[in-house]
Amino acid sequence: MERTYIMLKPDAVERKLTGRIIERIEAKGYHIVAIKVMNLNQKVLREHYAHVADRPFYPHMEGYMMSGPVWGMIVEGENVIQGMRILIGATKFEDALPGTIRGDFAKSTTENVIHGSDSPENAEIEIKRFFSL
Ligand code: PPS
Repeated sequence: MERTYIMLKPDAVERKLTGRIIERIEAKGYHIVAIKVMNLNQKVLREHYAHVADRPFYPHMEGYMMSGPVWGMIVEGENVIQGMRILIGATKFEDALPGTIRGDFAKSTTENVIHGSDSPENAEIEIKRFFSL
């Protein structure tokens, strides 16, 4: 059984999309084994998004990620890392297909409602990062 870190971003919480997103995760057969509501600070965001911290969009994204609470979750299931990335859909706004969470709910490439770990190594790092806060 694999596990991943999933984060419902501030726009998902603000727009009251959390229930609809969680319904999709559960309908797929995955288990939400932990959930935590958090207000993120600059320090943890710089760590989490270190690989894009020098990109032009970073300051705007950082402000957005601190604009309200997020819901961090540990989700378990068979091949859940890849499976969740498929449910989530593409990062780029124009590439996110209808039927995916981003394709149906994202408003832009930045305001894209959800994050999911991209590898087993990052899943463990991210679970540790956010569940030890
Ligand atoms: S990379 O280098 O672009 O492949 O990085 P990636 O792993 O896809 O992570 C990019 C994260 O930054 C968020 N983000 C944006 N990406 C690209 N362009 C714009 N404008 C942008 N704004 C925000 C993107 O959603 C990724 O975050 P997560 O939370 O992992 O989805």
